[in-house]
Amino acid sequence: MAIEFRINHPVTADDFIDLLESSTLGERRPIHDRGCIEGMVSNSNLIVSAWDGPLLIGIARSVTDFHYACLLSDLAVHKDYQRSGIGKRLQSLTREQLGPRCKVIIIAAPAAKSYYGQVGYVHNGYCWVLDPGASIKSGRATSRSWTLKGAGSVPPSQ
Ligand SMILES: CC(C)(COP(=O)(O)OP(=O)(O)OC[C@H]1O[C@@H](n2cnc3c(N)ncnc32)[C@H](O)[C@@H]1OP(=O)(O)O)[C@@H](O)C(=O)NCCC(=O)NCCS
Repeated sequence: MAIEFRINHPVTADDFIDLLESSTLGERRPIHDRGCIEGMVSNSNLIVSAWDGPLLIGIARSVTDFHYACLLSDLAVHKDYQRSGIGKRLQSLTREQLGPRCKVIIIAAPAAKSYYGQVGYVHNGYCWVLDPGASIKSGRATSRSWTLKGAGSVPPSQ
C-alpha cells in the first residue's frame, strides 16, 4: 500500500503515543503524561503525518505563526519505515506550508544529531532553552512597580 501524507489530518493521542514508542522518540517525550500528550496534539497548528493504511508511521508536529518562525517540535518515523525518505518528505511538506520568511527551528535529539546538518539545517549556537520549572531570574529591574492587564493560561488539552 502506498504511504499517504496528510496535512493537519486529525491525530489521536493514542496514535501519537504509539508512534513515539515505535520510533524511539518516546524515550524523550512525556508518553506517560496523557494530559501533556493530548495538549501537544490538540494545540499544535501544523501537523504533517504519514500513514500506511490506518497506521500512523510518521509525524512532523509544529507550532508556528507561518510567517516568521516554526518550531518543529517532534519529528518521528516508525522504526520499520526509517531511512526511506519519509522524514525528509515530512519536513519538505512542513516547509511548503510556511511563508518565504519563515525559519524552521528544531532541537535535535542526541540520536539525530548528525541528521539535520545532512538534510540542510544550519547549526545555530544562539539557541537557548528555558527548562520547565525554571523561571526568569529577578534583578535590579524588580525595584520598579508594574501593572499587568490580562493573563494567559495553559489551554485545555482537548
Ligand atoms: C530522525 C528521523 C526522523 C529521520 O527520519 P527518516 O525517515 O528515517 O529519515 P530519511 O529517510 O528522510 O533520511 C534521510 C537521510 O538521513 C539519514 N538518516 C536517517 N536517520 C538518521 C540519523 N538518526 N542520524 C543520521 N542520519 C540519519 C538517512 O540515512 C538518509 O540519508 P541519504 O539521504 O543519504 O540516504 C527518524 O530516523 C526517527 O524518527 N528517528 C528516531 C526519533 C528521532 O530521533 N527523531 C528526531 C527528534 S529531534
